Amino acid sequence: ARLWGVVPAAGVGQRMGAACPKQYLPLAGATVIEHSVQALLDHPRIERVVVALQANDERAARLPLLSNPRVLRAQGGAERCDSVLSALSALQKFAYDEDWVLVHDAARPCVSAADIAALVARTLESGLGAVLAQPVLDTLKQVDVEGRVTTTVDRQQFWRAQTPQMFRFAELRSALQRALAQGQLITDEASAMEWAGYPVQVVEGSASNIKITRPGDLELADYYLQQIAQ
Ligand code: C5P
Repeated sequence: ARLWGVVPAAGVGQRMGAACPKQYLPLAGATVIEHSVQALLDHPRIERVVVALQANDERAARLPLLSNPRVLRAQGGAERCDSVLSALSALQKFAYDEDWVLVHDAARPCVSAADIAALVARTLESGLGAVLAQPVLDTLKQVDVEGRVTTTVDRQQFWRAQTPQMFRFAELRSALQRALAQGQLITDEASAMEWAGYPVQVVEGSASNIKITRPGDLELADYYLQQIAQ
């Protein structure tokens, strides 16, 4: 089976409060999205990477990375999972059902080669889909609408999902399609796979694989990229 990459990059990045979508903000000599896409291209087994972009996205047209012959484009949709489905449709003419797809947020520029390699190794070895994730370190409170704690949950059972998330092409496509059609809340690929009844494993990733979301995250990402480069 071969490996493919998908990068949803059609979000507007409202929480960032920046003048342009967060994936186009400058970071360590490039833009956020270029670091994220390059991380997948750098893996020796990933054939091509499909990037889902907003329609008529002029900022994307200016990025040299998108003229790379290993990078394909698809039109993004209203929600993240619509963007991922659109990218998977673009892969239809290349990928076999049993091929693997790594879906990686455009907004996670600091993922390390070692973490991607660990995810790929574990998935290929077990044959089961997997996501990079981090154990929760803080104590977790369940809180009611009035802001009162109702209970403290056992944090040992909780992990924070990151990306990439790696699943078989046809299984992921059909799980996303079915979950969407049923109106399920899908915030990552794994949630569609879980809903469809597939086992999903976690592979422990690094704390530095942050998602650029709020002001201040860019400075942190810049710091992590310097650490990784050393
Ligand atoms: O909003 P959030 O940070 O969860 O977005 C995660 C990723 O999904 C980002 O890379 C964003 O560009 C992408 N996205 C998308 N299409 C949407 C919404 C988000 O490709 N409609």
